Amino acid sequence: MEDHKTQLLDGKAISAQMKQEIAEEVKRIKEAGGKIPHLAAILVGHDGGSETYVANKVRTCEEVGFKSTLIRFEDEVSEEELLREVDKLNNDPDVDGFIVQLPLPNHISEQRIIEAIDYRKDVDGFHPINVGRMSIGLPCFVSATPAGILELLKRYNIPTCGKHCVVLGRSNIVGKPMATLMMQKNYPGDCTVTVCHSRSANLKEMCLNADIIIVALGVPEFLKADMVKEGAVIVDVGTTRMPSSVTKTGYKLTGDVRFDEVAPKCSYITPVPGGVGPMTIISLMRNTLLAGKKEIYK
Ligand code: GUN
Repeated sequence: MEDHKTQLLDGKAISAQMKQEIAEEVKRIKEAGGKIPHLAAILVGHDGGSETYVANKVRTCEEVGFKSTLIRFEDEVSEEELLREVDKLNNDPDVDGFIVQLPLPNHISEQRIIEAIDYRKDVDGFHPINVGRMSIGLPCFVSATPAGILELLKRYNIPTCGKHCVVLGRSNIVGKPMATLMMQKNYPGDCTVTVCHSRSANLKEMCLNADIIIVALGVPEFLKADMVKEGAVIVDVGTTRMPSSVTKTGYKLTGDVRFDEVAPKCSYITPVPGGVGPMTIISLMRNTLLAGKKEIYK
Protein backbone atom coordinates (compact mmCIF):
# COMPACT_ATOMS: atom_id res chain seq x y z
CA MET A 1 0.00 0.00 0.00
CA GLU A 2 1.25 3.48 -0.82
CA ASP A 3 2.21 5.83 1.94
CA HIS A 4 -0.56 8.38 2.13
CA LYS A 5 -2.98 9.66 4.66
CA THR A 6 -6.69 9.35 4.01
CA GLN A 7 -8.62 12.59 4.47
CA LEU A 8 -12.29 12.74 5.31
CA LEU A 9 -14.47 14.96 3.14
CA ASP A 10 -16.31 16.35 6.14
CA GLY A 11 -19.74 17.37 4.87
CA LYS A 12 -20.89 18.09 8.39
CA ALA A 13 -18.16 20.68 8.94
CA ILE A 14 -18.42 22.25 5.49
CA SER A 15 -22.20 22.47 5.68
CA ALA A 16 -21.95 24.12 9.09
CA GLN A 17 -19.62 26.71 7.56
CA MET A 18 -22.05 27.28 4.67
CA LYS A 19 -24.95 27.52 7.09
CA GLN A 20 -23.18 30.33 8.87
CA GLU A 21 -22.49 32.10 5.55
CA ILE A 22 -26.16 31.85 4.54
CA ALA A 23 -27.37 32.96 7.98
CA GLU A 24 -25.13 36.03 7.77
CA GLU A 25 -26.53 36.92 4.39
CA VAL A 26 -30.10 36.53 5.62
CA LYS A 27 -29.25 38.82 8.51
CA ARG A 28 -27.95 41.45 6.08
CA ILE A 29 -31.11 41.12 3.98
CA LYS A 30 -33.27 41.59 7.09
CA GLU A 31 -31.30 44.61 8.22
CA ALA A 32 -31.67 46.17 4.79
CA GLY A 33 -35.43 45.62 4.97
CA GLY A 34 -35.42 43.03 2.19
CA LYS A 35 -37.61 39.97 1.80
CA ILE A 36 -36.87 36.96 3.98
CA PRO A 37 -36.44 33.88 1.76
CA HIS A 38 -39.38 31.48 2.12
CA LEU A 39 -39.21 27.74 1.36
CA ALA A 40 -42.34 25.58 1.29
CA ALA A 41 -42.28 21.78 1.37
CA ILE A 42 -45.05 19.38 0.44
CA LEU A 43 -44.88 16.03 2.25
CA VAL A 44 -47.23 13.21 1.29
CA GLY A 45 -47.71 10.30 3.70
CA HIS A 46 -45.54 9.20 6.59
CA ASP A 47 -42.49 7.46 5.10
CA GLY A 48 -39.79 7.49 7.81
CA GLY A 49 -37.00 8.65 5.51
CA SER A 50 -39.08 11.43 3.94
CA GLU A 51 -40.31 12.59 7.36
CA THR A 52 -36.72 12.89 8.55
CA TYR A 53 -35.48 14.68 5.44
CA VAL A 54 -38.32 17.20 5.47
CA ALA A 55 -37.98 17.81 9.21
CA ASN A 56 -34.26 18.48 8.67
CA LYS A 57 -35.02 20.89 5.84
CA VAL A 58 -37.56 22.81 7.93
CA ARG A 59 -35.19 22.93 10.91
CA THR A 60 -32.32 24.18 8.75
CA CYS A 61 -34.58 26.92 7.36
CA GLU A 62 -35.15 28.14 10.90
CA GLU A 63 -31.44 27.97 11.67
CA VAL A 64 -30.49 30.19 8.73
CA GLY A 65 -33.38 32.59 9.30
CA PHE A 66 -35.65 31.60 6.39
CA LYS A 67 -39.37 31.38 6.60
CA SER A 68 -40.64 27.84 5.99
CA THR A 69 -44.02 26.23 5.45
CA LEU A 70 -44.71 22.51 5.67
CA ILE A 71 -47.80 21.28 3.83
CA ARG A 72 -48.85 17.72 4.61
CA PHE A 73 -51.17 15.35 2.79
CA GLU A 74 -52.18 11.80 3.54
CA ASP A 75 -51.17 8.97 1.19
CA GLU A 76 -54.65 8.95 -0.30
CA VAL A 77 -54.40 12.49 -1.69
CA SER A 78 -55.40 12.68 -5.35
CA GLU A 79 -53.12 13.90 -8.08
CA GLU A 80 -55.58 16.73 -8.77
CA GLU A 81 -55.49 17.90 -5.17
CA LEU A 82 -51.71 17.90 -5.20
CA LEU A 83 -51.65 19.78 -8.51
CA ARG A 84 -53.95 22.40 -6.99
CA GLU A 85 -51.52 22.86 -4.08
CA VAL A 86 -48.60 23.20 -6.50
CA ASP A 87 -50.56 25.82 -8.41
CA LYS A 88 -51.28 27.68 -5.18
CA LEU A 89 -47.58 27.78 -4.29
CA ASN A 90 -46.66 28.79 -7.85
CA ASN A 91 -48.93 31.81 -7.44
CA ASP A 92 -48.08 32.72 -3.86
CA PRO A 93 -45.80 35.76 -4.09
CA ASP A 94 -44.43 35.15 -0.59
CA VAL A 95 -43.10 31.67 -1.48
CA ASP A 96 -39.72 31.94 -3.20
CA GLY A 97 -39.17 28.25 -3.70
CA PHE A 98 -40.80 24.93 -2.87
CA ILE A 99 -40.21 21.22 -3.04
CA VAL A 100 -42.43 18.17 -3.25
CA GLN A 101 -40.69 15.45 -1.28
CA LEU A 102 -40.22 12.26 -3.31
CA PRO A 103 -41.14 9.46 -3.57
CA LEU A 104 -44.89 10.00 -4.03
CA PRO A 105 -47.51 7.23 -3.74
CA ASN A 106 -47.85 5.06 -6.86
CA HIS A 107 -51.19 6.52 -7.96
CA ILE A 108 -49.57 9.93 -8.45
CA SER A 109 -47.34 10.70 -11.43
CA GLU A 110 -44.17 12.25 -10.03
CA GLN A 111 -43.31 13.58 -13.46
CA ARG A 112 -46.65 15.32 -13.78
CA ILE A 113 -46.20 17.00 -10.40
CA ILE A 114 -42.62 18.05 -11.17
CA GLU A 115 -43.64 19.55 -14.50
CA ALA A 116 -46.43 21.52 -12.80
CA ILE A 117 -43.93 23.36 -10.58
CA ASP A 118 -42.99 26.83 -11.81
CA TYR A 119 -39.33 26.30 -12.81
CA ARG A 120 -38.49 29.68 -11.24
CA LYS A 121 -39.52 28.23 -7.84
CA ASP A 122 -38.13 24.73 -8.47
CA VAL A 123 -35.33 24.85 -5.89
CA ASP A 124 -34.93 21.05 -6.21
CA GLY A 125 -33.89 21.57 -9.82
CA PHE A 126 -36.08 18.67 -11.00
CA HIS A 127 -38.12 20.53 -13.64
CA PRO A 128 -37.10 19.74 -17.24
CA ILE A 129 -36.28 23.42 -17.81
CA ASN A 130 -33.75 23.38 -14.97
CA VAL A 131 -32.38 19.98 -16.01
CA GLY A 132 -32.04 21.16 -19.61
CA ARG A 133 -30.43 24.44 -18.67
CA MET A 134 -27.96 22.63 -16.41
CA SER A 135 -27.02 20.24 -19.20
CA ILE A 136 -26.07 23.12 -21.49
CA GLY A 137 -24.37 25.13 -18.77
CA LEU A 138 -26.94 27.93 -18.28
CA PRO A 139 -27.82 29.48 -14.91
CA CYS A 140 -30.43 27.28 -13.22
CA PHE A 141 -31.33 25.52 -10.00
CA VAL A 142 -29.01 22.51 -9.72
CA SER A 143 -30.45 19.62 -7.73
CA ALA A 144 -29.18 19.64 -4.20
CA THR A 145 -27.21 16.40 -3.93
CA PRO A 146 -25.01 16.95 -7.01
CA ALA A 147 -24.64 20.63 -6.12
CA GLY A 148 -23.57 19.67 -2.59
CA ILE A 149 -21.00 17.18 -3.87
CA LEU A 150 -19.51 19.80 -6.23
CA GLU A 151 -19.25 22.26 -3.35
CA LEU A 152 -17.54 19.65 -1.18
CA LEU A 153 -14.96 18.89 -3.90
CA LYS A 154 -14.44 22.61 -4.37
CA ARG A 155 -13.91 23.45 -0.71
CA TYR A 156 -11.32 20.68 -0.40
CA ASN A 157 -9.61 21.83 -3.63
CA ILE A 158 -9.84 18.31 -5.07
CA PRO A 159 -8.27 18.34 -8.54
CA THR A 160 -10.81 17.25 -11.16
CA CYS A 161 -9.51 18.56 -14.50
CA GLY A 162 -8.68 15.68 -16.82
CA LYS A 163 -9.47 13.06 -14.19
CA HIS A 164 -11.50 9.93 -14.82
CA CYS A 165 -14.70 10.13 -12.81
CA VAL A 166 -16.90 7.06 -12.52
CA VAL A 167 -20.49 7.70 -11.47
CA LEU A 168 -22.29 4.60 -10.20
CA GLY A 169 -26.03 5.08 -10.66
CA ARG A 170 -28.14 6.81 -13.28
CA SER A 171 -31.06 8.28 -11.33
CA ASN A 172 -32.59 11.56 -12.44
CA ILE A 173 -31.87 13.20 -9.10
CA VAL A 174 -28.25 12.12 -8.57
CA GLY A 175 -26.44 9.94 -11.12
CA LYS A 176 -27.43 11.72 -14.34
CA PRO A 177 -26.98 15.32 -13.15
CA MET A 178 -23.76 14.34 -11.37
CA ALA A 179 -22.29 12.91 -14.57
CA THR A 180 -23.36 16.01 -16.51
CA LEU A 181 -21.77 18.34 -13.97
CA MET A 182 -18.51 16.41 -13.68
CA MET A 183 -18.00 16.68 -17.44
CA GLN A 184 -18.91 20.37 -17.66
CA LYS A 185 -16.22 22.83 -18.76
CA ASN A 186 -15.61 24.22 -15.29
CA TYR A 187 -14.14 23.56 -11.89
CA PRO A 188 -15.17 21.19 -10.37
CA GLY A 189 -15.60 19.37 -13.66
CA ASP A 190 -13.56 18.84 -16.80
CA CYS A 191 -13.55 15.13 -16.01
CA THR A 192 -13.75 12.19 -18.35
CA VAL A 193 -16.95 10.64 -17.06
CA THR A 194 -18.12 7.03 -17.14
CA VAL A 195 -21.61 6.21 -15.88
CA CYS A 196 -22.15 2.65 -14.63
CA HIS A 197 -25.40 1.12 -13.40
CA SER A 198 -27.10 -2.14 -12.51
CA ARG A 199 -26.77 -3.42 -16.09
CA SER A 200 -23.13 -2.46 -16.61
CA ALA A 201 -20.64 -5.14 -17.61
CA ASN A 202 -17.05 -4.81 -16.29
CA LEU A 203 -18.09 -2.31 -13.65
CA LYS A 204 -15.16 -3.38 -11.46
CA GLU A 205 -12.62 -2.61 -14.21
CA MET A 206 -14.21 0.82 -14.73
CA CYS A 207 -13.96 1.58 -11.01
CA LEU A 208 -10.35 0.38 -10.80
CA ASN A 209 -9.56 2.88 -13.55
CA ALA A 210 -11.24 5.80 -11.76
CA ASP A 211 -9.58 8.76 -10.04
CA ILE A 212 -12.92 9.81 -8.56
CA ILE A 213 -15.85 7.48 -7.82
CA ILE A 214 -19.28 8.83 -6.93
CA VAL A 215 -21.49 6.01 -5.70
CA ALA A 216 -25.25 6.56 -5.83
CA LEU A 217 -26.76 3.11 -6.20
CA GLY A 218 -28.60 2.73 -2.90
CA VAL A 219 -26.96 -0.68 -2.41
CA PRO A 220 -25.37 -0.87 1.06
CA GLU A 221 -21.59 -1.47 1.00
CA PHE A 222 -21.56 -2.10 -2.75
CA LEU A 223 -18.09 -0.61 -3.36
CA LYS A 224 -15.35 -2.85 -1.99
CA ALA A 225 -11.60 -2.28 -1.62
CA ASP A 226 -10.73 -4.49 -4.61
CA MET A 227 -12.70 -2.09 -6.87
CA VAL A 228 -10.74 1.01 -5.90
CA LYS A 229 -7.40 2.35 -7.16
CA GLU A 230 -4.85 3.58 -4.60
CA GLY A 231 -5.31 7.31 -3.98
CA ALA A 232 -8.81 7.56 -5.48
CA VAL A 233 -11.38 10.08 -4.23
CA ILE A 234 -14.59 8.38 -3.04
CA VAL A 235 -17.97 10.10 -2.63
CA ASP A 236 -20.68 7.96 -1.03
CA VAL A 237 -24.27 9.06 -1.68
CA GLY A 238 -25.88 5.96 -0.12
CA THR A 239 -28.14 6.33 2.90
CA THR A 240 -29.90 3.03 3.39
CA ARG A 241 -31.58 2.61 6.76
CA MET A 242 -30.42 -0.68 8.24
CA PRO A 243 -32.08 -2.04 11.39
CA SER A 244 -29.85 -1.58 14.42
CA SER A 245 -30.23 -2.51 18.05
CA VAL A 246 -27.62 -0.02 19.26
CA THR A 247 -29.11 3.30 18.08
CA LYS A 248 -31.99 5.24 19.63
CA THR A 249 -33.81 5.41 16.32
CA GLY A 250 -33.59 1.65 15.77
CA TYR A 251 -31.74 2.04 12.49
CA LYS A 252 -28.32 2.95 11.21
CA LEU A 253 -27.59 4.85 7.99
CA THR A 254 -25.42 2.72 5.75
CA GLY A 255 -23.54 4.01 2.74
CA ASP A 256 -22.87 2.39 -0.62
CA VAL A 257 -19.18 2.02 0.24
CA ARG A 258 -17.59 -0.56 2.54
CA PHE A 259 -15.93 2.29 4.38
CA ASP A 260 -13.59 0.36 6.69
CA GLU A 261 -11.79 -1.44 3.89
CA VAL A 262 -12.02 1.28 1.19
CA ALA A 263 -10.93 4.27 3.31
CA PRO A 264 -7.29 3.19 3.82
CA LYS A 265 -6.81 3.01 0.04
CA CYS A 266 -8.12 6.44 -0.92
CA SER A 267 -6.89 9.99 -0.72
CA TYR A 268 -10.30 11.43 0.23
CA ILE A 269 -13.58 9.80 1.24
CA THR A 270 -16.97 10.96 2.52
CA PRO A 271 -18.28 9.31 5.68
CA VAL A 272 -21.90 8.16 6.09
CA PRO A 273 -23.47 9.88 7.93
CA GLY A 274 -21.82 13.30 7.87
CA GLY A 275 -20.68 13.40 4.25
CA VAL A 276 -23.05 14.04 1.37
CA GLY A 277 -26.26 14.21 3.46
CA PRO A 278 -25.65 17.54 5.21
CA MET A 279 -24.29 18.99 1.95
CA THR A 280 -27.59 18.16 0.23
CA ILE A 281 -29.67 20.04 2.79
CA ILE A 282 -27.44 23.10 2.80
CA SER A 283 -27.46 23.19 -1.01
CA LEU A 284 -31.24 23.35 -0.94
CA MET A 285 -30.90 26.31 1.42
CA ARG A 286 -28.52 27.98 -0.98
CA ASN A 287 -30.94 27.44 -3.85
CA THR A 288 -33.69 28.96 -1.72
CA LEU A 289 -31.50 31.98 -1.00
CA LEU A 290 -30.83 32.37 -4.74
CA ALA A 291 -34.57 32.09 -5.38
CA GLY A 292 -35.31 34.71 -2.73
CA LYS A 293 -32.77 37.08 -4.24
CA LYS A 294 -34.08 36.37 -7.76
CA GLU A 295 -30.49 35.67 -8.76
CA ILE A 296 -31.20 32.99 -11.31
CA TYR A 297 -34.60 33.98 -12.69
CA LYS A 298 -36.04 37.48 -12.48
N1 GUN B 1 -36.21 12.41 -2.28
C1 GUN B 1 -34.91 12.03 -2.16
N2 GUN B 1 -34.10 13.09 -2.39
C2 GUN B 1 -34.90 14.14 -2.64
C3 GUN B 1 -34.64 15.52 -2.93
O1 GUN B 1 -33.50 15.97 -3.03
N3 GUN B 1 -35.74 16.29 -3.08
C4 GUN B 1 -37.00 15.82 -3.00
N4 GUN B 1 -38.01 16.66 -3.21
N5 GUN B 1 -37.28 14.56 -2.76
C5 GUN B 1 -36.23 13.73 -2.56
